[in-house]
Amino acid sequence: MGAAFFQEVSTAGESRLFELSGLSESGPGLSERRRPTVIPELYRAFREERRTLVDILWEQHRFHESRRWNAVELVESVRPENLTDLDRFVVWSAGRAEMTAKPSADRMARLADVECRRWQGKDDALASVIQALGSWSRYWNEEESHHEMGFSQLALQLGFEPLSDASVIDYRKVFPDDDLLRTLTMLSFSEGIAAVNYGQYARHVRDPSLRMLIKQVGADEVQHMQYFISFAKALADSGAYAPKESFAVAHLFLREGGELYGSSRAHVEYRGTHTNWWDHLEDGAGKAAAAPEALERKRTLILHALKRITGISCSSPQEVEDVWMDLVGD
Ligand SMILES: [Fe+2]
Ligand SMILES: [Fe+2]
Repeated sequence: MGAAFFQEVSTAGESRLFELSGLSESGPGLSERRRPTVIPELYRAFREERRTLVDILWEQHRFHESRRWNAVELVESVRPENLTDLDRFVVWSAGRAEMTAKPSADRMARLADVECRRWQGKDDALASVIQALGSWSRYWNEEESHHEMGFSQLALQLGFEPLSDASVIDYRKVFPDDDLLRTLTMLSFSEGIAAVNYGQYARHVRDPSLRMLIKQVGADEVQHMQYFISFAKALADSGAYAPKESFAVAHLFLREGGELYGSSRAHVEYRGTHTNWWDHLEDGAGKAAAAPEALERKRTLILHALKRITGISCSSPQEVEDVWMDLVGD
């Protein structure tokens, strides 16, 4: 099967994620005909098609370049007088939330390199998949810096107090290490949740530049989700990582009072190990993020990602729990 097949499958997969997240598929680079893509069957690409890291990394690079956009230009063209109190709050909280992406990407680069070397000589296709993940984390990190800088600089422009150095350092706290499939599954869900949140906010915003900024960031989050699904699926496809780990994470998000409900929960959790951005949303922004239609989209997106990663389809949180219990018992 050639590259054209994967391009078609991947493009359809991406459109589906856009549809599920509630973000419309538009923006620079997204409507080109022969655009680069996220490879949906990465383990097979290395193992059966004998594709190489040089080839896959070029595809990643082409994709990254095709989607680049200018945060400075968008921030400078926002007209503060067009912004409501909710818009201002969304900008401020998104700026803080996005600060936690860098430690996550830093950790991924380190973890992936260690894990890749563990598989060399045992399963070389898997070692290549994980090296592709570590290499891709450089684009992920760079794209997240657009988000962080865009929103946090705009917040300053709107008159919010700058963060102290101690707060910046606190936001950079690195998450504890975990099983790689669990980590990738969690990240695919977090990116999906972020995409839905941005989709929700974009609907409320009147200023065209702020709306564009939010939509660009949301489109990046959809693309990040797509990459995490691709890497997680490749790990599961190799047979070396147990799908029950993905189900454990899905259960953690979907269970009553789980991660999915974030700021809509009655209390805000303090986590000594890291900062989770959805725990910090309050007032109007929290309401927009936790609106019933947003929660439904997030649930659907998580179930969709879980199916793409593991190949097992579930239609409700209860079914996820049942399958998880079965997998744990096996
Ligand atoms: Fe982001
Ligand atoms: Fe992201």
